[in-house]
Amino acid sequence: MRELILFLIQIIAFSSARVHLSTTEIPLNKNQESNEGCTININKDLVEPQPLFIVPKTSSFWYPNENSGLIEIPSGQQIELFCADTFENTDSFQRKRQLLPTCVQGKTYQLKGEKYQLDEFTCKSHSRYYVKRTNTTCAEDSLLAQVGFNVTNGRFLKTMEICHNEKRQMTHYSHYQLYPTSYNYQKSTGRIGFSKTGFYKGKDVNHLYTMNQQKKVFGKLLNDSYDNFFSKKQFLSRGHLSAKSDHIFGSQQRTTFTFINAAPQWQGFNDGTWNTIENEVKRFVSKKKLTVDCYTGAWGVSSLPDVNGTMKELFLSVNGTNKQIPVPKLFYKIVIDVESNNGVALVGVNNPHLTQAQLKEDYIICDDVSEEISWMKMKRNNIAKGFYYACEVQDFLSNDDMPKMNLTVNRLLV
Ligand SMILES: *[C@@H]1O[C@H](CO)[C@@H](O)[C@H](O)[C@H]1NC(C)=O
Ligand SMILES: *[C@@H]1O[C@H](CO)[C@@H](O)[C@H](O)[C@H]1NC(C)=O
Ligand SMILES: *[C@@H]1O[C@H](CO)[C@@H](O)[C@H](O)[C@H]1NC(C)=O
Ligand SMILES: *[C@@H]1O[C@H](CO)[C@@H](O)[C@H](O)[C@H]1NC(C)=O
Ligand SMILES: *[C@@H]1O[C@H](CO)[C@@H](O)[C@H](O)[C@H]1NC(C)=O
Ligand SMILES: *[C@@H]1O[C@H](CO)[C@@H](O)[C@H](O)[C@H]1NC(C)=O
Repeated sequence: MRELILFLIQIIAFSSARVHLSTTEIPLNKNQESNEGCTININKDLVEPQPLFIVPKTSSFWYPNENSGLIEIPSGQQIELFCADTFENTDSFQRKRQLLPTCVQGKTYQLKGEKYQLDEFTCKSHSRYYVKRTNTTCAEDSLLAQVGFNVTNGRFLKTMEICHNEKRQMTHYSHYQLYPTSYNYQKSTGRIGFSKTGFYKGKDVNHLYTMNQQKKVFGKLLNDSYDNFFSKKQFLSRGHLSAKSDHIFGSQQRTTFTFINAAPQWQGFNDGTWNTIENEVKRFVSKKKLTVDCYTGAWGVSSLPDVNGTMKELFLSVNGTNKQIPVPKLFYKIVIDVESNNGVALVGVNNPHLTQAQLKEDYIICDDVSEEISWMKMKRNNIAKGFYYACEVQDFLSNDDMPKMNLTVNRLLV
């Protein structure tokens, strides 16, 4: 029975159930569909496995129009479609990976004199993403990695940029943009398994994220005093930094499942405050029609008391004195409007077992300005679900062990 329960708990841990509230959608302009030109509705028209939708001959995805929420291709113009493998309809498309159909009208496209419907352009398989290492230093002992897709002619379609410390096996932040239409992200894409993508050599990271293994490791770190810290609702899940739902296309959402885009996050917080922060930011960005730079990251190493009440730092991986994959103190989202350069750092505390005194002493690292951020609707005082506060970006980044970000922030984004 115990085995069965643990097994079930592991399944829960594995699916790390973050249910995204599907709140009010952006209303689409109905007239748009009957206009000249072609439209693609992200939540209605995509057939899987979908190709990448690219502005022809560039390294940019073709995103929905901010007013209609639809991808709009004028009649007579081309769109570039790409499959990492080949297109499904191999006879007519001759095992091609890249097609440049011309919009006729509605869902009809023309290619080499033949007419095709949008739903005929499907891939044989989902496009594999790739994590490309760079030598750009982004924090102490940390390098930037780019996540995205290889496309013909040496192009790389980036979905995010991740600042990762390979020695400590911790990620500082994941950087990407949110658009006015990000709120209309493709809802139907399922979760996929996380991949190591060339990092975490020799480690079974999924195993480290099981509650059973977490209890073993905490047993070592806390001298067996760990039992009260775990429950069905509190264990460390794979906390996405850049959320799956931060990306519009299903193809892009799949790229968030690289382990370097995750950090150990208590499930109560993952499901609670953090989920609210993710949704409220997208709602705000959509309402104000902003394009924002998002740096979603993790900071610090949290502690819990050992058998004698001495605070000990927490990690998912302990091998002798070598401790890796720290359990962060804080998860944060720095949001900067690209037009005004106004920004804010939204912060959530990743330790459900704190006392009020410990929270104030060790986890509030800058002047709280959350009262001024009226667009964040948040019950902030629930420590089990994650205490929330907000700071000026510079104030937040002035702490020790922060990444080197080249940010020029003007005022508070209110
Ligand atoms: C992407 O291209 C790089 C070389 O630029 C190559 O090393 C890598 O294997 C490719 N990845 C995929 C998934 O195609
Ligand atoms: C980064 O630097 C290392 C060591 O100097 C080198 O071997 C490697 O090729 C470089 N990688 C890239 C992507 O430039
Ligand atoms: C920050 O800017 C400096 C100087 O422009 C540049 O050398 C560095 O690569 C940038 N860092 C990042 C992480 O982009
Ligand atoms: C707890 O500490 C005692 C005394 O230092 C030690 O003998 C014992 O092995 C420790 N237990 C664990 C699980 O680390
Ligand atoms: C806890 O305190 C006891 C009694 O002072 C001591 O024997 C033991 O080594 C301590 N354990 C740890 C892990 O510090
Ligand atoms: C633990 O560290 C030792 C020595 O550095 C190494 O040989 C061994 O492979 C490590 N074990 C694991 C499970 O990583």
